[in-house]
Amino acid sequence: ADPDPLQDFCIADLDAQPSLNGFPCKPASNVTSDDFFFDGLSKEGSTGNIFGSNVTAANVLAFPGLNTLGLSMNRVDFAPGAVNPPHIHPRSTELVLVVKGKLLVGFVTTGFVYHSKVVTAGEIFVIPRGLVHFQKNVGKGKALSFTAFDSQLPGVVILPLTLFGSTPPIPNDVLTKGFQVDEDVVKAIKSKFGN
Ligand code: GLV
Ligand code: MN
Repeated sequence: ADPDPLQDFCIADLDAQPSLNGFPCKPASNVTSDDFFFDGLSKEGSTGNIFGSNVTAANVLAFPGLNTLGLSMNRVDFAPGAVNPPHIHPRSTELVLVVKGKLLVGFVTTGFVYHSKVVTAGEIFVIPRGLVHFQKNVGKGKALSFTAFDSQLPGVVILPLTLFGSTPPIPNDVLTKGFQVDEDVVKAIKSKFGN
């Protein structure tokens, strides 16, 4: 969903001031083959957190060679039982490729229809841009997936952290009314996310 480039490539100069869209290019005379290479998705991420999952991002900030090319990729590692919690990518559709294990992948449309599949090695599932989605490891062991995006920087809005872990926090009365629960429920959730 990113704009089309007007030149072959434009390796991001991440130290430069971001421009209207993306980053300025580093000088062409300094470009080498290494600028088109990234090995950061080769290693398993640490899943020692409350969700049991870990996203390693190969977006333009990690891999400057993607600047202006309109695509990027994540590696997502899952411990047994892990969840990649409900989240949104404001700028990108997502294609989930499961490489190992078994994931329940689901999203909800703007009309509140829930779509989901159990996806196993070699299978893919697509999540349309901007929709709330998640993955859960429903296999016996670890799971591994790679996700592809049609944006160099898809962005991510993680719902539990956004709603209950913001700085400063969203007022409790907004959340109690919004979710139709008592304040102790809101406080209990907030406490899990640093509020
Ligand atoms: C999975 O949903 C991801 O955003 O990589
Ligand atoms: Mn996602």
